[in-house]
Amino acid sequence: MISFQNVHKSFGPKKVLQGVNLEIAKGTSMVIIGGSGTGKSVLLKSVLGLVTPETGTILVDGKDATSGDHDAFLARFGMLFQGGALFDSMPVWQNVSFRLLRGSLKRPKHEAREIAIEKLRRVGLTPDVADLFPSELSGGMQKRVGLARAIAAEPEIIFFDEPTTGLDPIMAGVINDLIREIVTEMGATAMTITHDMTSVRAIADNVAMLHDGVIQWTGPVAQMDDSGDPYLTQFISGSAEGPIEAVR
Ligand SMILES: Nc1ncnc2c1ncn2[C@@H]1O[C@H](COP(=O)(O)OP(=O)(O)OP(=O)(O)O)[C@@H](O)[C@H]1O
Ligand SMILES: [Mg+2]
Repeated sequence: MISFQNVHKSFGPKKVLQGVNLEIAKGTSMVIIGGSGTGKSVLLKSVLGLVTPETGTILVDGKDATSGDHDAFLARFGMLFQGGALFDSMPVWQNVSFRLLRGSLKRPKHEAREIAIEKLRRVGLTPDVADLFPSELSGGMQKRVGLARAIAAEPEIIFFDEPTTGLDPIMAGVINDLIREIVTEMGATAMTITHDMTSVRAIADNVAMLHDGVIQWTGPVAQMDDSGDPYLTQFISGSAEGPIEAVR
């Protein structure tokens, strides 16, 4: 469903992606792990055209991500941004149903509101949250509103950037189960970034580790613990000793 072929992206002198190759099969859940600042968020954004790689190809469903009707292309995706990226001036329900209130996915207002309330329920939020503004929510609640927005239009492809960061362990478990359900029940293709190894084990079919601008290791989650890769092993164990330098 998604294919990265030799993708390079720099910001000024800073080389971030230095030849990323990765395949994500339709209806599977890929989890990207890797140190802070290694380019995981940049990788997701490059699929959506929010950052533009200098060289390389990104294919979605066999087609070049940068060609064709970009609105129709984006309508296939849902995305949870790492920082939430909620619209401050809109109540929660309009944030959640943002895509359903305009453009090609437009629905009548009352329907969009009902869908928003249903999606809020799926992420563990009650209907009274619908009329609050983002500034009136806790950090974890904002995260869940972002998640509800990502799934609101039932997209084919969903990107989750740090879905459980800032959530308590029980709510993180609920969100992990939800992501798993979206992939198995809705047949969606998911790409999730997380630092939470419990999440990795709960969500992933396959895992890819980004390090030094390339995919250092990728494989089924069941093979992660016996990979024999010193970088991956150090990352999983959270050890200060190993090939990854703790100071960058
Ligand atoms: N729009 C931008 N302009 C300039 N530099 C950027 C931009 N976006 C990202 N970068 C740089 O690219 C690098 C990778 O950033 P990215 O956000 O992808 O990291 P990450 O792997 O998601 O880290 P974290 O785990 O902390 O979220 C960082 O050095 C960052 O400063
Ligand atoms: Mg990030």
